[in-house]
Amino acid sequence: MRILFVCLGNICRSPTAEGVLRSIAAREYPGLKLQIDSAGTADYHVGEPPDRRTVAAARRRGYDLAGLRARQLHPDDLRRFDYILAMDRSNLSELTSRRVTGATAQLALFMSFAPGASETDEVPDPYYGGVEEFERVLDLCEAAARGLLGRLQIAK
Ligand code: 4NP
Repeated sequence: MRILFVCLGNICRSPTAEGVLRSIAAREYPGLKLQIDSAGTADYHVGEPPDRRTVAAARRRGYDLAGLRARQLHPDDLRRFDYILAMDRSNLSELTSRRVTGATAQLALFMSFAPGASETDEVPDPYYGGVEEFERVLDLCEAAARGLLGRLQIAK
């Protein structure tokens, strides 16, 4: 199962989702074989590590994101991945508009997998926020990752 997380810059939300899912999956679902990656719809931060506030907040909860590097979404991603999970509705509409011929990936909002969340819930952009916004990204990613892993386990 190949899963790609997508946000705008690939330095805050989608690397957090990538690291959180990878870590919880390895610890709690060792039998699930997952390939996990992340990308941004924009090219502003290509090649950069995640935002230092993202790295610091994740580290406080035991996730190591320091080795990740930002990349931009590539048209082939829509063929290569089984699921492409967007952080907000704007990312999702970008994905929909870039759907290429032969695109097989299922597109959805990551938060649609969180227990009790509605189909339109988002992981809000923390870039112009403070520590609390970065903590909230982690809370939401942990909830959605657990919901997603539960669904993948049942579907296996
Ligand atoms: P992300 O956050 O989409 O969660 O990585 C952002 C990162 C950078 C910018 C905006 C959002 N920016 O405008 O540079």
